[in-house]
Amino acid sequence: MKTIRVMTLGAALLCLGAFLAIAGDTKELVEKTCSSCHDMGRVRAAYGVKDQTAWSATVARMLAKGNAPAVTHEEHGLIVDWLSAQEK
Ligand code: HEC
Repeated sequence: MKTIRVMTLGAALLCLGAFLAIAGDTKELVEKTCSSCHDMGRVRAAYGVKDQTAWSATVARMLAKGNAPAVTHEEHGLIVDWLSAQEK
């Protein structure tokens, strides 16, 4: 029984670690991608104002601009999710 509990705790910690790693990487990804034309102030101004749909449209609009950095489909999704989770 004790082994099972230790294993469950271990698995929970692993998940948390993976979650935090992704959250940290996504923040860097967003800062790198979204501050290449304007600073993050412009992005931050819309935290908590735009919902997921609005962010999705904004990110697509930004990344369709001429000299926008290329991101993968997965990265696009991560960026939208991360932005939608930010609060004012
Ligand atoms: C290729 C250059 C470029 C990149 C990369 C870029 N932006 Fe922009 N962004 C602009 C320009 C130019 C404007 C002002 C004109 C406009 O709104 O289209 C703007 C305006 C904005 C605005 C204010 C207007 C609105 O629609 O709310 C937000 C928010 C924004 N950008 C967020 C982002 C985010 C988030 C990213 C990263 C995914 C990003 N931008 C990446 C060029 C860029």
